[in-house]
Amino acid sequence: MDKGICIVVKNEPIADQVYRMVLEGELVQHLTQPGQFLHVKCGDGIDPLLRRPISICDVDIEQQLLTLIYRAEGKGTKLLAEKVAGEKVDILGPLGHGFPITERKVGEKALLVGGGVGVPPLYYLAQELVKRGVEVSTVIGFGEANQVFLDSEFSELGATRVTTIDGSFGEKGLVTDVLDQGFAADFDVLYSCGPLPMLKALQQRYTQNEREAYISIEQRMGCGVGACLACVCKPNPELSSKSYYKICTDGPVFNIGEVIL
Ligand SMILES: Cc1cc2nc3c(=O)[nH]c(=O)nc-3n(C[C@H](O)[C@H](O)[C@H](O)COP(=O)(O)OP(=O)(O)OC[C@H]3O[C@@H](n4cnc5c(N)ncnc54)[C@H](O)[C@@H]3O)c2cc1C
Ligand code: FES
Repeated sequence: MDKGICIVVKNEPIADQVYRMVLEGELVQHLTQPGQFLHVKCGDGIDPLLRRPISICDVDIEQQLLTLIYRAEGKGTKLLAEKVAGEKVDILGPLGHGFPITERKVGEKALLVGGGVGVPPLYYLAQELVKRGVEVSTVIGFGEANQVFLDSEFSELGATRVTTIDGSFGEKGLVTDVLDQGFAADFDVLYSCGPLPMLKALQQRYTQNEREAYISIEQRMGCGVGACLACVCKPNPELSSKSYYKICTDGPVFNIGEVIL
């Protein structure tokens, strides 16, 4: 873990209430594992006191650039949306355990399933998998057309399907509807991040499956470093002898079925 000041290069809206922030800083050289997160100080003073966890969406180690995509919905993220080029952002990270990718082999097939603000970490993951020669298929879901982002970026990396609940973009329905149609059904490994109902649906489907599958949980956090217990969740007693997991340090990525959702 590192703590550093990054400089805002760009911070612009890319969808309804969703912003893409590009930052520059030495911290970037440590951001090598997709699925890890950064704890971002959103304001300049002590209000809000708590940092906000945001996933690493894209990294350019050579240029020392880092991209975050976030939804400006509450106090902290709305302050973040006000930052302009040249301003400083105080960042702690990388934190947590990311998506396991070192065992992936050339020619394997990965299925990525994301929803809403769970989509950004999957983009960095997709790029790293493609670099390793893994075939990536992605399905991402949003509420409606004006909330959709990263669809064309994923399309450049592999087969991509987009769903919206109201059908205003891509296919009408949920990401699981696309899976029901048999999309990328022959995957070797599944990676997912998104809203709890989506993760629950995937967990019901794939826990008994023989294939590797991982979910990343975006839950409320306080300290982000294992000290405050704000982020605890219950492990599946069949798979773990621990009485609780801290999502910030034991996760946010877990084997599917490892946590009771
Ligand atoms: C590991 C991880 C990665 C994440 N990555 C992203 C991302 O890439 N893009 C993105 O838009 N969002 C992401 N989130 C969710 C994001 O952290 C929350 O939306 C954000 O903290 C809400 O802060 P706020 O100031 O908008 O809301 P407020 O209502 O002001 O937040 C109040 C408090 O609740 C916490 N909180 C509220 N909602 C959440 C939540 N869903 N998850 C965690 N803490 C929450 C805040 O940290 C803060 O302590 C991630 C969450 C986690 C845990
Ligand atoms: S956020 Fe404090 S222990 Fe996880």
